[in-house]
Amino acid sequence: MCLKRIGVVTSGGDAPGMNAAIRAIVRLAYSNGLRVFGFERGWEGLLTNTFRELNPRSVGGIIQLGGTILRTSRCPQFKKKEGLKKAAKTLATNKIDGLIVIGGNGSFKGALKLSRETETLIIGVPATIDNDVYGTEETIGFDTAVNTAVSEIDKIRDTAISHERIFIVEVMGRTRGFLAATVGLTVGAEVILVPEEKLGIEEICKVIKENSAKGKRSGIIVAAEGVGETHKIAKEIQRHTGAEVRLSILGYAQRGGNPTARSRLLASLFANHAMELLLKERGSRIVGLQNGKITSIELKESCSKEKPLDLSLLKLARVLST
Ligand code: ADP
Ligand code: F6P
Repeated sequence: MCLKRIGVVTSGGDAPGMNAAIRAIVRLAYSNGLRVFGFERGWEGLLTNTFRELNPRSVGGIIQLGGTILRTSRCPQFKKKEGLKKAAKTLATNKIDGLIVIGGNGSFKGALKLSRETETLIIGVPATIDNDVYGTEETIGFDTAVNTAVSEIDKIRDTAISHERIFIVEVMGRTRGFLAATVGLTVGAEVILVPEEKLGIEEICKVIKENSAKGKRSGIIVAAEGVGETHKIAKEIQRHTGAEVRLSILGYAQRGGNPTARSRLLASLFANHAMELLLKERGSRIVGLQNGKITSIELKESCSKEKPLDLSLLKLARVLST
């Protein structure tokens, strides 16, 4: 097969740096004599045959923009056989030889199923603020979300210190604690709560009481949304310690904004590797960063394994915040 036409789609939660990846894919494709078609609104675009042709000029001025110019969506129909068949038909009708899917875990699960229904070569480019994709140490958008959360929490710290309060700051991450662990360590959080290592109220309060006895009467608890019911945790801590406790949920601000240089760099390097794989006519893989090198693993492996969270980050954060 001689590759002529490739597709690109952004799927699942938007992540800062998705646009930088689209730009790199389009320009690399053109430099190799390929045409590029951008499917719109995630997998929905493949179900409804909605796309637009992209060229090096149409992706100008987007490297610095958050979100995705192709739009994205959660698309439940894609989980059904009928949806996958429709998507495979769209790829065949438009003679798409290779498809690059920019997204997270869920998007890759869909990509794996689609790869079984189509001849089109499929490559995944990991982009999610959750950083929970097996096969890469970092995803596009993670660094930006970390920096956004850190600069917000630095501001919250001012109030915590001035009022001698304990703040619980809830960050995103879906069911995982990657964002919370890195943010927690880098803001100097006194406690980090992640779903991977459950801490009881007594343990949390012990840290707060010990700190208070040492003269540290304020504190930041960074909690991953995956630990659930942070408002209840806040009330319980207040009841057990007598400290004034406030909850701040950072929310969607973490998902938007201009990508950091790091997220743009990963986007460009991942896109480059994805294109190299396609040009070698290799499919059903996701690109990633491993031991500082850009590499790839099978899509199937990425979808079947769970990325481990390095719990030593939490231990280090605990020692550094004493
Ligand atoms: P992300 O890719 O950021 O993890 P989602 O989990 O929402 O985001 O997945 C994006 C889309 O991928 C879903 O809306 C759905 O269309 C598709 N998808 C997710 N899980 C599966 C699955 N198990 N089988 C098929 N498609 C899936
Ligand atoms: O996957 C990114 C993410 O922001 C998660 O951190 C969060 O749990 C989820 O998406 C929110 O999803 P939605 O945008 O569908 O509300």
